[in-house]
Amino acid sequence: MPDSTGDSRTAFQVALTPSGRQGQVPRGANLLKAARQLGVELESICGGRQTCFKCQVAVEEGRFPKLGLTSRADHLTPLTPQEETYFAEHNITGRRLACACQVQGDLLIAVPEESQARKQIIAKAATERAIQVDPAVRQVYVEVRQPSLEEVRGDWERLAEALGEQWDLHDLSIDGRALPALQSALRQGGFAVTVSLWQDREVLRVQPGYAEGVYGLAVDIGSTTVVAHLCDLRTGEVLATQAAMNPQVRYGEDLMSRVSYAMSEPQGLARLHRAVILTLNELAEKAAASAGVSTEDVLDAVVVGNTVMHHIFLGINPVELGGAPFALAVDSPLDLRARDLGLSFNPAARLHLLPIIAGHVGADNVAVQLAEEPYAQDKTMLIVDVGTNAEIVLGDRERVLVASSPTGPAFEGAQISHGQRAAPGAVERVRIDPQTLEPFIKVIGYPDWIAPGSVDLPEPAKATGICGSGIIEAVAELYLAGLINADGRFERSAAEVSPRLLLSGRTAEYLLADADQTATGSPIVITQNDVRAIQLAKAALYAGIKLLMAARGVERVDRVVLAGAFGSFISPYHAMVLGLIPDCELEHVYAVGNAAGDGARIALLNRRQREKASWLARWAEHVQMPLEASFQEEFVAALALPHARDPFPHLADSLPEASEERKARPRHRIREKYNKA
Ligand code: FES
Repeated sequence: MPDSTGDSRTAFQVALTPSGRQGQVPRGANLLKAARQLGVELESICGGRQTCFKCQVAVEEGRFPKLGLTSRADHLTPLTPQEETYFAEHNITGRRLACACQVQGDLLIAVPEESQARKQIIAKAATERAIQVDPAVRQVYVEVRQPSLEEVRGDWERLAEALGEQWDLHDLSIDGRALPALQSALRQGGFAVTVSLWQDREVLRVQPGYAEGVYGLAVDIGSTTVVAHLCDLRTGEVLATQAAMNPQVRYGEDLMSRVSYAMSEPQGLARLHRAVILTLNELAEKAAASAGVSTEDVLDAVVVGNTVMHHIFLGINPVELGGAPFALAVDSPLDLRARDLGLSFNPAARLHLLPIIAGHVGADNVAVQLAEEPYAQDKTMLIVDVGTNAEIVLGDRERVLVASSPTGPAFEGAQISHGQRAAPGAVERVRIDPQTLEPFIKVIGYPDWIAPGSVDLPEPAKATGICGSGIIEAVAELYLAGLINADGRFERSAAEVSPRLLLSGRTAEYLLADADQTATGSPIVITQNDVRAIQLAKAALYAGIKLLMAARGVERVDRVVLAGAFGSFISPYHAMVLGLIPDCELEHVYAVGNAAGDGARIALLNRRQREKASWLARWAEHVQMPLEASFQEEFVAALALPHARDPFPHLADSLPEASEERKARPRHRIREKYNKA
């Protein structure tokens, strides 16, 4: 029956953010149950009786071309009396109780963190690093000459004079927002004050007497997550680290879909910009609260991000980055006032953005280089930062080359049939027994491996999907077990000996988790298309690496650094088996966590490093991938597992083709069986 909008469909598209889960939901379905069926578990202590008020969600209104839907608040049934009373009493607007409403149209539903039963996991710890502390903002204590009838100069002029005499600081200015508090601070402190200065040039704050405590925020705005480290600018100590999903995910999973959202929607850019500023303010509040300080004491911030994130953060339309020649609005380092962007730190707080190298090699890449110092190495270092766009750095003390390769979001679980982001419930590790072809899986949030055939699993052990590290291990293990060949095709003959390999017409899929091992009650499979998506992504990355190696004139790398949160979770061995990275001694392949965040922290705590970043951005040589004629050729060769022609001597004993044990492996047993037949 058509509803008031004339829509007579019997099922609707429902998407949930930040999980990214979506699917068709029948008309009239209860939203709490529908979310569960789509793999999103909401808090529901009362079991849907509208009494615990834990299952709150919000409808994101608007047109979402990427999701192919238009979402409206009236695509849910009207507020129930219980909802009306509760929301009115608590002064809450824009929320619904998922258990209280039924679906009657397409929807994009935002699930706030407090309503998520399985909360997002983000690798956020700041790595221990030795950083020489020489911040851009510092405090000095100064005693100022008192005014008199003979002394006609203003308080500011006498303060500036005292700073010259006692600290050798000259040609100073004062931020307009610090000026109104100047006179009272001087008098309250008996003409002794603590002054916070930026770059020894500008006074940001004047506090009465002796005051201690000036803090800064180092921020990495990634396409998927935003991480902020609150640091003591005097000691360099990281006082708190906070991370959140990048709220822009709801407007587009990958960078290009956000660019097109900014282009096609009249309020698109403003929404994307506001969302990230709001998140940054929330992270600052949370970090300050957990460290027991006030955001009023945050006087400096360094922000890094890829070029699209950088432009949107500044409120610049990234439209030019959507196509060649990928013209940047600005690539120099920037010194701004945090308040101009709506950041609610101290009103005079400063903001520094590291420079950009090229259209798709951003300030995050410069930050990674600050942290890992490829320019100071005697041996060749390869740094790979895998995200929706892989950024690659190859260098040593003679040359550093950088490039960005369009891997797409497959490594983050998107475009994979049961893919999801890294969150509790996601399969993160996979082993396939080469003899029995049975899988062992490990899900995030549950400590033990789950053996094949396990039943009656506790709720946290039930899988909801497979995340990036899980799919990489799964494809590599399928290959090692002989279930797929070097071309990535399933060995259909294996279905003779393993009920896990399900054949359907010309295609096949591997049953990774049985229906009773999952939270959704549906099995999790790896399809031929999933394998293909991973092959395409890894080939784009590997081809980019090979072009940089060719440009540098090297045939091997001595060290491989996996940067980014994702890099922390992937197994170097499986990454190499898959041919995601070139051959290298396995002990020289390691993850460094959020190196971009660490680089931001280095630039926050040491102003000389900001100068080094400027130099690096100009010195590094950018290799433009799409313009390289040999990219296609390298790409095609890199589609094979691990590669069509490159040797992988460090995997010699592991690969099916090379292993002496291969005769014992099922693929070969199967072949033998067929040969005999
Ligand atoms: S589940 Fe308790 S109010 Fe919705």
